[in-house]
Amino acid sequence: MKIFLLVLCFVVAFYNLSLPHLLFISLVPLFPFFVNIWLVPGGFAWRNLDLNPTKIPGPVGWPFLGILPKMGPHAHRKLASIASSMGATRLMAFSLGSTRVVITSHPETAKEILCGSVFSDRPIKESASLLMFERAIGFAPSGMYWRHLRRIAANHMFSPKRVSSLECLRQRVCDQMMEKVSNEMSVRGVVELRGILQKGSLRNIIESVFGSGLGLEIEEELGFMVKEGYELISEFHWGDYFPIRVLDFTGLKRRCHKLTLKVKSLVGQIVEERKRDSTKGTNNGPNDFLSVLLSLPEEDQLTHADMVAVLWEMIFRGTDTVAILVEWIMARMVLHQDIQAKAQHEIEELVGGHRVVQDSDIPNLSYVQAIIKEVLRLHPPGPLLSWARLSTHDVQVGKFFVPAGTTAMVNMWAITHDPSIWKNPWDFKPERFMEEDFPILGSDLRLAPFGSGRRVCPGKSLGLATVSLWLARLLQRYKWLPSTKVDLSECLKLSLELKRPLTCHAVVR
Ligand code: HEM
Repeated sequence: MKIFLLVLCFVVAFYNLSLPHLLFISLVPLFPFFVNIWLVPGGFAWRNLDLNPTKIPGPVGWPFLGILPKMGPHAHRKLASIASSMGATRLMAFSLGSTRVVITSHPETAKEILCGSVFSDRPIKESASLLMFERAIGFAPSGMYWRHLRRIAANHMFSPKRVSSLECLRQRVCDQMMEKVSNEMSVRGVVELRGILQKGSLRNIIESVFGSGLGLEIEEELGFMVKEGYELISEFHWGDYFPIRVLDFTGLKRRCHKLTLKVKSLVGQIVEERKRDSTKGTNNGPNDFLSVLLSLPEEDQLTHADMVAVLWEMIFRGTDTVAILVEWIMARMVLHQDIQAKAQHEIEELVGGHRVVQDSDIPNLSYVQAIIKEVLRLHPPGPLLSWARLSTHDVQVGKFFVPAGTTAMVNMWAITHDPSIWKNPWDFKPERFMEEDFPILGSDLRLAPFGSGRRVCPGKSLGLATVSLWLARLLQRYKWLPSTKVDLSECLKLSLELKRPLTCHAVVR
């Protein structure tokens, strides 16, 4: 170093150099250093060669940033195109700042990752941690506590018996949504479904978690909280990709703290009131998730803080996914009038026009189910499966070595658009699911919109039951016509949404 500085001084004095020249010359000796840390497969975060001995292919990306500039509303498409251009669909390495990531666009490797016990943790975003999700199912590390939460949720929130007992609620909320559709049509002559679906979805999950009777004001406040939480979690945060978590350039941490205080206060108050009611015996016939949590045997009880985190997560996760999926389906129905008519014909044949569709009809409405599957294939709400996984140990994935602490993603969107897996993948063709009974709950990774393995979505049956019933009823009651050209542009936030809300006409059939 001393010699380098001496030579530098000599060169400056001798050639009378300007500052830019000087800077350039001083960077030249650092060139091999940059080559070593940056120009490696996968880029900056894979700089240490020991981390990638089997040379997982991947883009070099920008110095220090990796491919962060490519992540955004179309990240799933960009990652798919990079993987395909580099011949890295099995496994691709890349860097998001200093975070080491692998991604697969292949069903077999996806199965290895999602179902392998090594990948049963999740990397936690700072916003998720501040919003208490680390103490809820989604981000809790895969130990005893997480297993305990999943067991409680599986037995008391998502069991087939419980999902079916919630049919009345789904029907009632659907009635309310249809009333709003009819109001909007008579007042404005067009319907914007997004707001109606979001409110319906929120009410549906709130009542299954807290029961009825919370009141409109609290319901609205919870709605604002979910919206704010959704924005915060979708926002880019430098601290998630660089070791600078103490800093808060954008005010994101401050906003998370503020929201968490509100959630703790509001949900905490609901819990406390319910506890008081149950000791007074004024709680009439509780059948909601909160009552179940409160009546667990002592050894299974959650602390007050953990209970608040779990209840908040249910409301948060259960609201947007269902609303977003139904909006995508309706956009496709408005766009493909022939397919809509075919589904309506099926409903008419099976149910007729004198009674409304019920849960028990759904298994017999094969074409309606095929439509849902085809929309999940073309527009999976979690194209990158929303929340990634984290390797807890060094592991071999196929022929590649993946070191401990690597974030692992599955590009489900790339798999469901792969022409070697799906014939004419860009065509909207529900008929492809009429030929065979294709499972979509995680056993076949060619279409696994709910993930797979130990961390598969626990709300999948509840979500599907809600989407199926609402779709069948919306089609039974109305003919859906375009009001403007249907725009299928998409935008990836926490989930993959229609970029612009769908507007259409609903004509009573
Ligand atoms: C159409 C509806 C839905 C879709 C497409 C969906 C999709 C997903 C996906 C892709 C994952 C990640 C799975 C993995 O890592 O393998 C997930 C996890 C999760 N989902 Fe869903 N979901 C839906 C509905 C729901 C509902 C209604 C709830 C709750 C009320 C819910 C609660 C959760 C939770 C708690 C997790 C985290 C599981 C864990 O880490 O152990 N989801 N979901």
